Amino acid sequence: MAELIAASGISKAFPGVRALDQVDFILKPGEVHALVGENGAGKSTLIKILMGVYRRDTGSLSVKGREVHEFSPEAAQDCGMAAVYQDISLARSLTVGENFYLGHMPKTAFGTIDWSQAYEKCGALLAELGLHDIDPRAPLSSLSVAKQEMVAIAKPVFENADILVFDEPTALLANEETEILFSIIRKLRNEGKGIIYISHRMEEIFTICDSVTVLKDGRHVRTMPVSETNPDDLVRLMVGRSMEDMYTIKRAQHGELALEVDGLSREPRFRDISFDVHHGEIFGLFGLVGSGRTEIMRAIFGADPIDRGEIRLEGRSVRFSHPSQAIAAGIGFMSEDRKNQSIALPLSVRTNINLANYSSISPFGIVNRTAERDASRIYIDRLAIKTPSDTVAIRNLSGGNQQKAVLGKNLASNSRILVCDEPTIGVDVGAKSEIYKIFERLTEDGVAILMVSSYLPEIMGLADRILVIYEGRAMGIVSRSEFDEEKLVRLASGLNA
Ligand SMILES: Nc1ncnc2c1ncn2[C@@H]1O[C@H](COP(=O)(O)OP(=O)(O)OP(=O)(O)O)[C@@H](O)[C@H]1O
Ligand SMILES: [Mg+2]
Repeated sequence: MAELIAASGISKAFPGVRALDQVDFILKPGEVHALVGENGAGKSTLIKILMGVYRRDTGSLSVKGREVHEFSPEAAQDCGMAAVYQDISLARSLTVGENFYLGHMPKTAFGTIDWSQAYEKCGALLAELGLHDIDPRAPLSSLSVAKQEMVAIAKPVFENADILVFDEPTALLANEETEILFSIIRKLRNEGKGIIYISHRMEEIFTICDSVTVLKDGRHVRTMPVSETNPDDLVRLMVGRSMEDMYTIKRAQHGELALEVDGLSREPRFRDISFDVHHGEIFGLFGLVGSGRTEIMRAIFGADPIDRGEIRLEGRSVRFSHPSQAIAAGIGFMSEDRKNQSIALPLSVRTNINLANYSSISPFGIVNRTAERDASRIYIDRLAIKTPSDTVAIRNLSGGNQQKAVLGKNLASNSRILVCDEPTIGVDVGAKSEIYKIFERLTEDGVAILMVSSYLPEIMGLADRILVIYEGRAMGIVSRSEFDEEKLVRLASGLNA
């Protein structure tokens, strides 16, 4: 059968950046095609050109055998194409069902919108996909980030698209949801649809993809069947070096107690959570998405109120009613929902890196511009943030590079305690190992790190102890010598170890 997409010689430049340089790409029916590469390699730019969101500078593109010259998102939709972008672009104030129908509302014989039929249809599709617990009448904003992502994933299926693009769909998903996504993808493949799949997680490429295209610095490196490569070779093609032992870090000496949490409760989200973290320690919170991990973090940080319990910072009892108070007390916070909570998209990379830093670099209320520039240089350099300069708006950076800037912000704030929720979401393997090295250095300096990760290799590699949460309850604290993947998964599923 003919190719679904055939693109050749695609180039695209942004001010100061050559995002794509003569890239060829082919998608066949019944194929799951992985697109991999470091942060800023050009993956998202390529799919946005294929989807008509960006205009290409050079190159030719044909969709289902027809050459397309002027392409637009509407024209792409008419060709049966749909994409789930890195930054979820659904309307949060609308219901799940309204989001499904955006742009083509179901009408009754009288020309009014027949919502009961519409909701019924959405509910049936969600159930068919294994998403029984998503109510089509619920406002999107009432769902967890992971569930919102599942709605975004279900929408193109609902629209019956036959060319589907997923840009890092699993970044915010737990294992269970990832399984649902994979079963959806397998079903689509069996129906002869074509899927482009972007991910930084090697095991996903080898689980779900048939072929893989590697991009590096905007250039096409290689396209091959997944069966003819392996994770090591693939990483070498992406970064130009091999990455063994990425999760092994040096263990720091543990010092005094940094953070104590005692009987913390916020009904019905979580109840009676107690643990402590020492200076120099990395303490992990593990649990499925929706188990309450993020809520616990938010409560500690003053982003949500608590019903009961005590939080002590270096022995002193504290209660924050706003995150700014936690920051002032020396806690840094990295949220999983980067776009809504951690980043100021229209502002420059430099300002974003300094965002939590201004009180300390602004004596008498006047910003010390040299200190501001230095902080931004240091972290752009250390984290290898790919940007033409530090004065461009952060929204122009690739997803992973934005995440690195958020990290830079927290590191620049000199926190004694760093709370991070999924710290390496969306960052490439090279940057992951950079981040782990920075964690190593921070703990050596006595910083206490409290981290949530649903990514087992990461949390098992980094944490000294792990508290497992199931439905808002503590299932037990496991220390490093007793780490065992099966045991952690059992606890996280509410079973005894
Ligand atoms: N709208 C834009 N304006 C300016 N530069 C941009 C814009 N979009 C992307 N870029 C730049 O183009 C390059 C490629 O970015 P792209 O988003 O395609 O990377 P990516 O491979 O998707 O990376 P990631 O894994 O971090 O998502 C980067 O250097 C990025 O800064
Ligand atoms: Mg991207």
